[in-house]
Amino acid sequence: MSGLPPGPRGLPFLGNLLDLGQDHLPSHLTRLARRYGPVYTLTCGSSTLVVLNSSDVIKEALVRKWSDFAGRPISYTGSLVSGGGRSISLGDYSEEWRVQRRLVHQTLQRYSHSSLQALVRRQALALREVLIGYNGRAVDLAEDFTVAASNVITTLTFEKEYGKESEELQQLHSCLNNIVSLWGSPWISALDSFPLLRKLPNRPFSRLLKEVARRDDIIGRHIKEYKLRDNQSEDSITSSLLKGIEQSIGSEDGVRLTDTHLHMATVDLLIGGTETTAAWLSWTLAFLLHRPQVQTQVYEEMCGVLEGRYPQYSDRPRLPVLGAVISEVLRLRPVAPLAVPHRALRDSSIAGYFIPKDTVIIPNLFGAHHDPSVWSEPNSFRPERFLEGGGGRARDLLAFGGGARLCLGETVARTELFLFTAYLLRDFLFLPGGEGAGLPDLEGEASVVLKFTHALIYNPTQI
Ligand code: HEM
Repeated sequence: MSGLPPGPRGLPFLGNLLDLGQDHLPSHLTRLARRYGPVYTLTCGSSTLVVLNSSDVIKEALVRKWSDFAGRPISYTGSLVSGGGRSISLGDYSEEWRVQRRLVHQTLQRYSHSSLQALVRRQALALREVLIGYNGRAVDLAEDFTVAASNVITTLTFEKEYGKESEELQQLHSCLNNIVSLWGSPWISALDSFPLLRKLPNRPFSRLLKEVARRDDIIGRHIKEYKLRDNQSEDSITSSLLKGIEQSIGSEDGVRLTDTHLHMATVDLLIGGTETTAAWLSWTLAFLLHRPQVQTQVYEEMCGVLEGRYPQYSDRPRLPVLGAVISEVLRLRPVAPLAVPHRALRDSSIAGYFIPKDTVIIPNLFGAHHDPSVWSEPNSFRPERFLEGGGGRARDLLAFGGGARLCLGETVARTELFLFTAYLLRDFLFLPGGEGAGLPDLEGEASVVLKFTHALIYNPTQI
């Protein structure tokens, strides 16, 4: 086994901080892979980071050697935003974490078998009403997508739905979004690698702490209200976790879940399940505006198969073009482009390189999805690549990660992506909106979530 993977030389003391502070980090890391290969090393202060850029090496680490790489980096700022590491997404691998994740996973599975489709369909129809209300006017739909995705999660967690104008919803989103973008900023991650900086004034960090307090206040209030309700559903995540907490009190395995686990699991689902799905929907429409003939193909495919009715999740095998569009947008814009960093729990290896315990592993999903040795014309929107069988296939997609840390909401997300897109394209024709509107820019902005930031205006014309 050879030593650590090669990588660009860093500056004394700072290491590769400048590489890590680049604007569109996933693209930058992908460019470095063309030079240093699919596995390379970066340093930042005292941390060693290994970046994985191909589907083979990502699967080796996350799936085949999952038990070596299922940890999360333990960091100063991570601990502050995750209730001391008691969240599912940022909590380190431990028995306590496994029990917490299993409880939420089982509840989501139960829900998926029973009421998830009905819940997403209801939100898709509500979105349809909102669009009809625009009366063909040119509008930006990003916020409507956020409300639809968010209502799925708030119903799953505490059985609550909101209208777009709800102040409570706006408060919740503004603080969750602020936390995600502040926590992804180099000003804040520098505090993890360079502890001396914690003694200096840092405005973004002070804002982060304020937003975390605001978040905890809002979520805490919701959970308190929920506990007082006398018509709680057996299916909700909150009910299930409350039961799990009760049972853990008397359990003999020594694992004791607390209200903080419930609180942080709620935060996980709200953050993990709102902006991701909403951003994905915006990306889909943006790409379809660039290839209107694909939009027509999806519409015609649905007309032939559905004969006027609304689609169901079980229609997927009979709607291959729609499926190919979903896969191609997940490939081009995996909305969590660098997943969430992993940590080596013990000494191990990847692609024959030695990886010491505690190395931080960055799965560059964006890079793997743009790998020219797997995908022909990797930057082009070509859903047909999934129909032809050539030029890369669905098994090389890693948009939801893999192994022990596989996205907890994958089933929810896949149901949403399919039903929301099918409902939208069944009833509306999307055109670039506004006077002399051009096609949208497809670059986007990458922090923790890969977002479509261009002020895109749609012109939803009812078919
Ligand atoms: C984690 C992708 C939607 C909840 C992740 C990860 C990825 C991902 C790449 C990190 C995996 C890793 O660390 O290796 C996506 C995509 C989505 C989506 C592409 C939609 C298009 C959702 C939804 C929910 C959700 C709807 C909630 C219902 C979570 C949670 C984690 C996670 C809780 C942390 C899992 C853990 O650390 O064990 N997701 N996600 N995600 N996602 Fe998703």
